[in-house]
Amino acid sequence: MKKIEAIIRPEKLDAVKNALEDAGFIGLNIVHVTGRGVQKGIVHGGRGGETYTVDMLPKLKIDVVVRDADAQKAVDAIIGAAKTGNIGDGKIFIMPVEDVIRVRTGERGEDAV
Ligand SMILES: Nc1ncnc2c1ncn2[C@@H]1O[C@H](COP(=O)(O)OP(=O)(O)OP(=O)(O)O)[C@@H](O)[C@H]1O
Ligand SMILES: [Mg+2]
Repeated sequence: MKKIEAIIRPEKLDAVKNALEDAGFIGLNIVHVTGRGVQKGIVHGGRGGETYTVDMLPKLKIDVVVRDADAQKAVDAIIGAAKTGNIGDGKIFIMPVEDVIRVRTGERGEDAV
């Protein structure tokens, strides 16, 4: 199994959630995060020509655990809904998950995802 952690623009939440649901991925977590990418935030221009930098931006992190065979499908759904083509579109991290347990039934592994 894989855990997909996708950092997205907050305004893309509904689109990404719907795309994941349409692709068959229902269970997920949304985490509010504050972060920065390679641009180190964004520079704002003031009226008098002065500028200031906001170096940590609010983003959302979507955590979704999927079967190994479904990982690419989930990633494609996220990218399809989250991408604008502009800087700050986000980033996706994929990591292995050792085990999953459904508390109600005791099912484990891919049966429990
Ligand atoms: N290397 C990283 N490790 C952890 N979180 C990151 C990393 N890079 C980006 N993030 C998180 O993802 C958010 C969005 O990053 P962003 O899309 O700006 O990445 P980028 O690498 O700067 O790409 P781009 O050039 O398209 O903006 C950041 O605000 C931060 O929360
Ligand atoms: Mg960036």
